[in-house]
Amino acid sequence: MNMDPGILRLLGKTVSLMENMGFLWLVFSGFELRLWEQLQEEKTMDGLLADNPKWDAVLLEHWLNQAVFQDLLILDRDTYRLSSLGKSVLRYQDLGLEAMYKEFVLYWGTCFRQLPDLMTGREECPSLENELKDNLISRASRSSEVFVWPVLQKKCARENWRRILDVGCGEGTYLKKLLAVFPELTGVGLEINPATCVRAEQGIEKFHDRLRIVCQDIFDFNNEEAFDCCLLNNNIYYFTGSKRLELIRHLKGLLKPGGQIAILTALRGITSSVPILPAHIPQNLMSFFLACHQGFDGLPAEQEIMKLLQEAGFKKIEVRPLLFKVSHYFFAIKP
Ligand SMILES: C[S@@+](CC[C@H](N)C(=O)[O-])C[C@H]1O[C@@H](n2cnc3c(N)ncnc32)[C@H](O)[C@@H]1O
Repeated sequence: MNMDPGILRLLGKTVSLMENMGFLWLVFSGFELRLWEQLQEEKTMDGLLADNPKWDAVLLEHWLNQAVFQDLLILDRDTYRLSSLGKSVLRYQDLGLEAMYKEFVLYWGTCFRQLPDLMTGREECPSLENELKDNLISRASRSSEVFVWPVLQKKCARENWRRILDVGCGEGTYLKKLLAVFPELTGVGLEINPATCVRAEQGIEKFHDRLRIVCQDIFDFNNEEAFDCCLLNNNIYYFTGSKRLELIRHLKGLLKPGGQIAILTALRGITSSVPILPAHIPQNLMSFFLACHQGFDGLPAEQEIMKLLQEAGFKKIEVRPLLFKVSHYFFAIKP
């Protein structure tokens, strides 16, 4: 019997959907229960139950089995240990992974469940939930650090920046890393969210007066001394349509002549040239999720950023796709 190729592809998609959902729930629950830490040392199921006497044995057994099937654990006779993938989960936990998975489990499902009502206008788009605003989004944003940091570090060295403004600095990690590497550099981190500012301020004492975190809306911020560089990392999508041009013009006003703007953003609509990592799928899905919320239009397209920079009067626009095109940096100069 000839199988309809459409049905075969659908079957493949459905199986990989279940595999991916399983992976998500497994990693998420492992973070919540601190199972990844507990499995750093080899453990038997009985050993785990002895450490966690109130846990349900049947569910724990399913969790462990699923983690083996998903290549997160290795089972050797009756002991479980982390595979290299499992070790990476633990290593990237605080580099955005835990926050990102929490965001997916707690908020993406609820959001997309409402899609028929949102698309037909039966329900209004909700505001972004507080936990997302105060905590998860800026922490999850750290997941792109491994791709972004090498580009930013090289650029800073080449351009010899001395004064940097980081708009929507989130946890402030880029500024802290830059200031640690470049002793001449001073920076201001601007962040609208007070809870996020508190985290950005952690550990800045060692930079003395070289680093300042300001808790303010960018549109209320004016500085006496102009900057060599203004970073707008993973922040432009917080602004809708015409506000984006207003923002870029405002940032231009904060730069010295010859100063640079650096816009880092995931993009809508691009296609990846790397088949092993179709990065345009998650980027467009993130855009979709954002667009389901009040005050958000989703991610910009590459052409939109180019147009904004040109209209604001920036010159020498350079587009730098990051590794696997997971995101893009746009650099441009104020004449
Ligand atoms: C996705 S996070 C990015 C954090 C960091 N730049 C990074 O790339 O890891 C965006 C941050 O921009 C902040 N933000 C949004 N609108 C802002 C505004 N009008 N002024 C200053 N900060 C803003 C948010 O509170 C959030 O912490």
